[in-house]
Amino acid sequence: STKYRSFQPIHLRDRQWPDAVLSKAPIWLSTDLRDGNQALIEPMDVERKLRMFRELIRIGFKEIEVGFPSASQIEFDFVRRLIEDDMIPDDVTIQVLTPAREELIRRTFESLKGAKQAIVHVYNAVAPIMRRVVFNMTKEQVLNDLAIKHAHLARQLANEHPGTRWRFEYSPEMFSGTELEFSKQVVDAVVEAFGATPEDPLIINLPSTVEHSTPNIFADMIEWMHRNVAKRDAIILSVHPHNDRGTGTAAGEFALMAGADRIEGTLFGNGERTGNFDVANLALNLYSQGVDPQLDFSDIDEVRRVVEYCNQLPVHPRHPYVGDLVYTSFSGSHQDAIKKAFSAREDGDIWDMPYLPLDPMDLGRSYEAVIRVNSQSGKGGISYLLEHEHGLVLPRRLQIEFSQVVQGAMDESGKEMSAEDIGEIFTREYFDAQ
Ligand code: KIV
Ligand code: ZN
Repeated sequence: STKYRSFQPIHLRDRQWPDAVLSKAPIWLSTDLRDGNQALIEPMDVERKLRMFRELIRIGFKEIEVGFPSASQIEFDFVRRLIEDDMIPDDVTIQVLTPAREELIRRTFESLKGAKQAIVHVYNAVAPIMRRVVFNMTKEQVLNDLAIKHAHLARQLANEHPGTRWRFEYSPEMFSGTELEFSKQVVDAVVEAFGATPEDPLIINLPSTVEHSTPNIFADMIEWMHRNVAKRDAIILSVHPHNDRGTGTAAGEFALMAGADRIEGTLFGNGERTGNFDVANLALNLYSQGVDPQLDFSDIDEVRRVVEYCNQLPVHPRHPYVGDLVYTSFSGSHQDAIKKAFSAREDGDIWDMPYLPLDPMDLGRSYEAVIRVNSQSGKGGISYLLEHEHGLVLPRRLQIEFSQVVQGAMDESGKEMSAEDIGEIFTREYFDAQ
């Protein structure tokens, strides 16, 4: 679609800053089946996991974290099922998570036997609070006995199974709560331990495991790492924001502007506590600025149905781009502006509509919900529904008279009026009464 090609909000049109907007899609990783799943009241069974996996493929994810196979038998069996039943398309790479612990890494490799390609994601916490209180380890011990030692082990196990195309990811968990110099020291050492090169890069994934700061601070930390790690060209720089302060999307967006190549998140932001970074939110932010997100949300209600079924959690009616109410105006002045802008629109115009950030049709929605009528609406909304749902165009004087009748009925009931209700009142007023 060229509808959004040149659209920028007015304050960005003559921008001075080359990095003020994103101009291409990042590498996406869905962690719905891992971080999302581990936060559910009832984690997905194999059937729900499969349903989600198929949907993620349909949407276009090329990297999918499918679980934590050393954590439970269900998780292990799910990875086996994907591999044994040959369910992974050639252009999709599954990723699995493992803590930096020998027996868990070994079990993880067992789960992946026979995979054509896979990303093994190793993590250990690096933050002072974890070093002091949970591990009782010095920085040197965390560096040597957790990070470097287990990176060597993972590489060695991979070398023992050359039939799989192995890739690796390393996450210094709680990166956003850790001294930057120490994070860099760990990352540089792990890059060496995995033997990463520009041809065989290591994914370094920097999480805000708990979101503690404003998104600009997180992005500054990412930029610092981007500029200071020893072998930037041997790294795919990934971020993994959470949403504790409610700014997960902004943190992800800023982090990509600050130098990250890749981002991990979930559909509609399911995940630990307030959730993971919402992939759909950023994808559609990009789309609405003319950037192809490389993910398909052209039937967003179907995506939502699958996500609600698999997570057994509802999506909020005001959730960006997908909620039931996000393309709906009740207020008279908004309705009036939308009506006028629709009438003035010509084929090929860029999408620059008051109160509608993008065309709901692009996400498989109709215009039916755009204008809904309650006691906040004026005559514009009522006439719009009469015209579009009943084919009745009223002269202005009759519009005013009839909207007073409808308004009176709504003041009494305090309820919304559907197009059908309005049609019935119209018939009662002007036909039945004759
Ligand atoms: O939030 C986090 O730190 C994680 C890691 C395991 C990457 O989920
Ligand atoms: Zn996480």
